[in-house]
Amino acid sequence: MNILFLGDIIGKQGRKVVKNLLSRVKSDYNVEFVVANGENGAGGFGLTCDTAQELFNCGVDVITSGNHIWDKKDIYNELEENLRILRPLNYPEGIPGKGYTILRTETGKSICVINLQGRIFMPPIDCPFKAVENALEKIDGKGVKAILVDFHAEATSEKMAMGKFLDGRVSAVLGTHTHVQTADEKILPEGTGYITDLGMTGPHDSVIGMEYEKSLKRILFQIPFRLNVARKDLRLNGVFLKINEESGKCELIKRLNIPYEP
Ligand SMILES: [Fe+2]
Ligand SMILES: [Fe+2]
Repeated sequence: MNILFLGDIIGKQGRKVVKNLLSRVKSDYNVEFVVANGENGAGGFGLTCDTAQELFNCGVDVITSGNHIWDKKDIYNELEENLRILRPLNYPEGIPGKGYTILRTETGKSICVINLQGRIFMPPIDCPFKAVENALEKIDGKGVKAILVDFHAEATSEKMAMGKFLDGRVSAVLGTHTHVQTADEKILPEGTGYITDLGMTGPHDSVIGMEYEKSLKRILFQIPFRLNVARKDLRLNGVFLKINEESGKCELIKRLNIPYEP
């Protein structure tokens, strides 16, 4: 099963990259299922119903997210209703949405996507390890072979620990949130594809997607200046995965960092 998983899509510039490159990449790699992290899809902060729809229209099958999913209330109801939009599973009970979904590809194969969030240098939500353990118990016996985990976390150590924790139990553990692609893609000993961070689909001439000037001021003066999405050096970041349909194991993980030159 050929799958594409994209790192955080940043605002209109990130959506422009998806609009212009996704169909070509899909056909180049013969991709049948696309997941993308969309927590920064609308103006760099959060996601709206319209921006989510735009991504679906471009060929994205599932949108995962992270801490920024709460920035725009417009999406809250959709988080509840739409089986193709996830928020991290391990937020406390009582908030909208769900953290995993099981879908079928056009050719009838079952795929489960799970979205988790880390706790190191991030809000102290519920334990992502216990949450995924519970989810895997519920998923077990539903005939799902391919299980993809987006672990939205800051600390490399926490992400690597999750990779090890889930090795052999899921098809891939893919990090998001730092917006900087790591060069450590690998297949772990028990067959799980892993990368610490997928990187960012958006403007790379920036401070993790935002214009330099305000980002620098924010850091120099510790005042929350409003940040704007940068515009230059647009790139599609993510990985291409080959998952064995019988065993659910990862056979190939290839890092993608493709420039978009209009
Ligand atoms: Fe992000
Ligand atoms: Fe994030």
